[in-house]
Order: sequence, then C-alpha cells, then structure tokens
Amino acid sequence: MNGFTSDWLTLREPFDRAARAAAATTLDLPSCIAGRSGDDGMLSAIDLACGTGANLRELAPRLGGAQRWRLIDHDPLLLNAVAPALARWASASGHRFEQHGDVLHLEGRGENGLAFAAAVQTLRLDLARDLHTLPFADTQLVTASALLDLVSADWLRALIDQAGAARCALLFALNVDGRTAWDPTDGDDELVHTAFAAHQRRDKGFLGPALGGQAVEQAVQSLNTAGYRVFQPASDWIIDASQPGPSRPAAAALQRAMIEGMAAAASEQATENEAAICAWRERRLALLERSRLRVGHTDLIAVP
Ligand SMILES: C[S@@+](CC[C@H](N)C(=O)[O-])C[C@H]1O[C@@H](n2cnc3c(N)ncnc32)[C@H](O)[C@@H]1O
Repeated sequence: MNGFTSDWLTLREPFDRAARAAAATTLDLPSCIAGRSGDDGMLSAIDLACGTGANLRELAPRLGGAQRWRLIDHDPLLLNAVAPALARWASASGHRFEQHGDVLHLEGRGENGLAFAAAVQTLRLDLARDLHTLPFADTQLVTASALLDLVSADWLRALIDQAGAARCALLFALNVDGRTAWDPTDGDDELVHTAFAAHQRRDKGFLGPALGGQAVEQAVQSLNTAGYRVFQPASDWIIDASQPGPSRPAAAALQRAMIEGMAAAASEQATENEAAICAWRERRLALLERSRLRVGHTDLIAVP
C-alpha cells in the first residue's frame, strides 16, 4: 500500500471515482473554480503527486473549458504510465486523445454536459525538496488526490503559504480522516486500526512525521489561517464485497489489499501484538466475501 505501484492505483481508482462522485453531489465544483483562468483564458492546474493521472481524469471533465495541466510526481515509472492511462481512459469515455511531442491533448464532454480541452505535461520532481520551484504565479488551481496523509504539517503549511500568496484555489481530494468501519466487526479491529494509524504517522519523506488521519484537521486549520474559504464534502470509500454483482471481484481485491497492507503495517508498528494481528488477518481474509468496509475520506476545496 505504500509502494504506490501502478497496480495499486488501478485497484483503487473505481472506488476513488465513486467516492468523489458522492462528494460532487454536495458541491458544484465548476462554480467554486468559476472565473479562474489565466490571461490566455485557460485554467492552469498543477496536480501534485499525480501517480498515473487519476485526479486529472476525474477533474478535467467536471471543470470543463480550456485547461492546462502540469502533472508532477517523483516516480518515473508512474509518470511513464500517464500517457497510456490517459489514452485508455479517453478511448473508453469517448474523448479524443493525441500526443504531440511531450504534450498530451484531451478533448471531450463531461457527464455534466460541459465540453473540455486539456493540454497536459508531466514533470518529474521531488515535491519535498522542490516545492518552491513550482510555477504558482502562473497557476489558478493546485490540486492533489490521496496525498495529504503522507505529508508533514510543515510541508503542508509551506504549500498553502506559497499557493495562497499566488491566490491559487486548492483542491485536495480523498484525504483519509481516520474513520474505518467493518461490517461484520472483529474484536481486534481497533487494535489493528490503532497500530496502522500510528504507522501512517511515520515520516514518508515530506520533511517530518506524516499527518496520516490528522491531515484534514491540520489542512483546514492552515487554510483558515491563510484566509481560505473551505468546503469539506465527505468522499468515503465503500468497499462492499458482500453483495453479488459485477463490482464484487474489484471490491474483494481492494479489501484483500487493504487487509494485507493494514496487517503488515500494524505488525511493523506493534511488534508485541504480531500474533494477534496475524490472527486478525486470517479471520478478515476468511470473511472477505461477506464484508463491507467503509474508509473515511474528506475532500477539501479551498477558495482564496
Ligand atoms: C497514494 S498515491 C496517489 C496518486 C494519485 N494522486 C492518485 O490519486 O491516484 C501517492 C503519490 O505520491 C507520490 N509521491 C510520494 N512522495 C513524493 C515526492 N516526494 N515527490 C513527488 N511525488 C511523491 C507517489 O509517487 C504517488 O504517485
């Protein structure tokens, strides 16, 4: 779960999409970002820690209009996977995809009826070290999905300060907020969740202990201090492998990955409870096709 392989990102993407669709029903994103464009009439967006570009796939059709995207990550394998992932998505969604040199072009229409045209470039940067090199002054929207739990409070404050000075809107999607609920429950859920949450707070390379489940609270505080108006729609993952149907195999696969990842991290964190955590993993895997897991996430949309 911490390796961020393309396979892991692919496994989670349909659940991310469903979670964000639920959040979108409570917030009209285009009206929050409306009127934000550069001198050339295009909305310039930076996607921090882009992975294979899932955040762009979610946002470009919802935002509509002419857009310029800079997709940033430190992992060259994930950056190389962006163009094929966008091409596959465009083909499946009826959008147009073309590549000219290092610029990817997308054109299409979102489910909301808005037409969009996006020019996309990828950029390899270590965001922990190189944050200050980003072109905030030339950007109207700074966004990230599934990133804030990895970063430190100092790094997040620095990001909000720099984006705030340039009056960029901010959109942080899919921030884990510490809520985890299984149905059916197990007597050791709490033991594993507590150790897993402590493991999430370990340093993930962003200049200090990671925020983990505290990310939302910390971000809201820093955004308010910087003068942002903040919207917080819930974007929970619902991973239901208990219901027969076409989405059951995907739910079972993601649940399995969650169980394995949580058990491994919890055992590393609480070595004294390794036997109990191992037994929890066995029981959870045995219950796989009868379980429903809700993982609490919150989206944050901040307007200067
Ligand atoms: C959970 S994944 C999210 C990927 C993508 N935003 C998504 O929603 O599918 C976290 C991403 O952070 C990137 N990342 C981690 N540390 C980084 C750093 N120091 N600089 C740039 N990217 C980093 C990883 O390579 C990975 O793509």
